[in-house]
Amino acid sequence: MSNIIDGKAVSALERAKIKSETELFIKENGYAPGLAVVIVGDDSASKVYVKNKHNACLEVGFLSRVYELTESTTERELLSLIDALNSDSEIHGILVQLPLPRHLDEKKVIARIDPDKDVDAFHVQNVGKIVLGDYDFLPCTPAGIMVLLRESNIEIAGKECVIVGRSNIVGKPMALLMLHANATVTICHSKTQNLKEVTKRADILIVAIGKAKFVTSDMVKEGAVVIDVGMDRDENGKLCGDVDFESVSKIASAITPVPGGVGPMTITMLLQNTLTAAKKAALASK
Ligand code: GUN
Repeated sequence: MSNIIDGKAVSALERAKIKSETELFIKENGYAPGLAVVIVGDDSASKVYVKNKHNACLEVGFLSRVYELTESTTERELLSLIDALNSDSEIHGILVQLPLPRHLDEKKVIARIDPDKDVDAFHVQNVGKIVLGDYDFLPCTPAGIMVLLRESNIEIAGKECVIVGRSNIVGKPMALLMLHANATVTICHSKTQNLKEVTKRADILIVAIGKAKFVTSDMVKEGAVVIDVGMDRDENGKLCGDVDFESVSKIASAITPVPGGVGPMTITMLLQNTLTAAKKAALASK
């Protein structure tokens, strides 16, 4: 049986550090770090995520503003709200919850966010900095995974890391972070041939494809570290990951559960990015 990587416990420790750094920040500057979250439309999952972000901000002492816009919001209206937030000195981080309704151009919207307030690290300027290994913000999920690996004392340098999934939010930046940490990195996707042969090479296997229990024990090397980014529903409607936890946990040396693994870290990293943005802005104004 493998070690279960406890994302809730690591997240609680990280949030406690952020909270005490925030107290210090407020003492030194006389105001709190501020995050604005913009949600357009009625997607129920997105609403839950946004509420969790708001509550997390309050928990660590941030200013939190949530803008709930109707489904019929025009691109012009959304862009003009972003412009206003870009020049709002109380706001240090801006997050536009994705996905957006189809009539809104995600790329254009993300491009409008001031890169210094882009706490998702989705803006091309921040993506470019990540490629070069010289960044202020990291996308929250890959950043959270790096903290989980660090806190679990898992060595990365020289290891074979296989990532299943190539999204801009997780797979691609994850590959870059593992590369910066000196892993040998392979990215797999829906067109990869002999997937099982590739995943079996992994010392560290990271799965982010959104398919319930897709990775089974025959795809995993004995003793591998398995990180499951999935948030899926099984045949009974129960929350589960992209990895078949029951079988894979018998052969992995360490594994993240779903829920309680990667998920809790994502919002914690958003808090970290917002604090970093506020500190940078405070320094620039001095
Ligand atoms: N929707 C799902 N995950 C994310 C995220 O990390 N950031 C944003 N902005 N939207 C999301």
